[in-house]
Amino acid sequence: MGDVDGLIHELKELESRALKALGDVSDPDGLEAVRVEYLGRKEGRISQILRRLGALPGTERPTVGQEANRVKGVLQEALDARRRELEAGRDSGPEARADLTLPGRSPWVGARHPITWVVDEICQIFRGLGFSRVRGPEAETEWYNFVALNTPLDHPAADEQDTLYLQGGHLLRSHTSPVQVRTMERFDPPVRIVVPGMVYRRDTYDATHAPAFHQIEGLAVDEGITFVDFKATLAEFSRRFWGPDTQVRFRPSFFPFTEPSAEVDVKRVVTLPDGTREESDWLEIMGAGMVDPAVLENVGYDPERFTGFAFGMGPGRIAMLKYGIPDIRLFYDGDVRFHRQFRHV
Ligand code: PHE
Repeated sequence: MGDVDGLIHELKELESRALKALGDVSDPDGLEAVRVEYLGRKEGRISQILRRLGALPGTERPTVGQEANRVKGVLQEALDARRRELEAGRDSGPEARADLTLPGRSPWVGARHPITWVVDEICQIFRGLGFSRVRGPEAETEWYNFVALNTPLDHPAADEQDTLYLQGGHLLRSHTSPVQVRTMERFDPPVRIVVPGMVYRRDTYDATHAPAFHQIEGLAVDEGITFVDFKATLAEFSRRFWGPDTQVRFRPSFFPFTEPSAEVDVKRVVTLPDGTREESDWLEIMGAGMVDPAVLENVGYDPERFTGFAFGMGPGRIAMLKYGIPDIRLFYDGDVRFHRQFRHV
């Protein structure tokens, strides 16, 4: 009796050891070694136990024999299953099992484009000054892009901005100023708008130029708008955007659709990492001026009654100055290492 229980116990132990060994093997050689050790015809452990059956009384033999056959069947099946797993390249051995102690993977988080940040910030400041945000088409006519803006097609300013011509007399707009005209055609004064959008020029792609880039146009037209409103509005914007200590300078310039025209420069006070404050150089941030009466006439406004100012700036250039970005191409090349830096701006 004791012998029978002992053998059955041995068989069960052998079964669980063999199953564990099968789980641990990671290649066909290891699998064969386990097979020989347990199921081998001559020296296999099960064969060895069966050989000891002869010492049992005849009535006890079937009990142990049945158990031995059951264990053999289980092991043979497990062996075949493990072989199929290894052949399929699916290794469920302990090394390959998921390591639940590893830290989780953080989800991919996108970042807004730095130019988008700057465009939104600028439009938000102008919103506080009473300007609405509008858009216009990127495919324009010569009328809106040049002629209505007091720029005859043979004028050098039209030449300089020569751009890509499309079919049907359309062209890719070379600035956002045509939206001045489109807006004034649709609405009576007062008009106060900012217009962010893409513009296109025949420029070579280099560190400071891109053939497609962003602009923000601004326009204010009403009764009684003076040069003082023009300067005060743009100075106020500059201080809200660049900081309260910013100095603003208006330099005489020329645009066919403004008279007088100016380039607006800012001088910033920057705080260095060690806390000391330093004045920047003068930075040119926009072209601007009082709306030329000829433009008002072109849209059917009475230039004797209405006056206004307009401006145009490049948020890409502004983003470069603001974040210390040395090359405009970083905006457009799509390198995630660049964009990742703006996740928390
Ligand atoms: N449209 C001009 C440019 O692209 C900028 C500008 C806009 C100047 C409005 C004056 C008034 O260079």
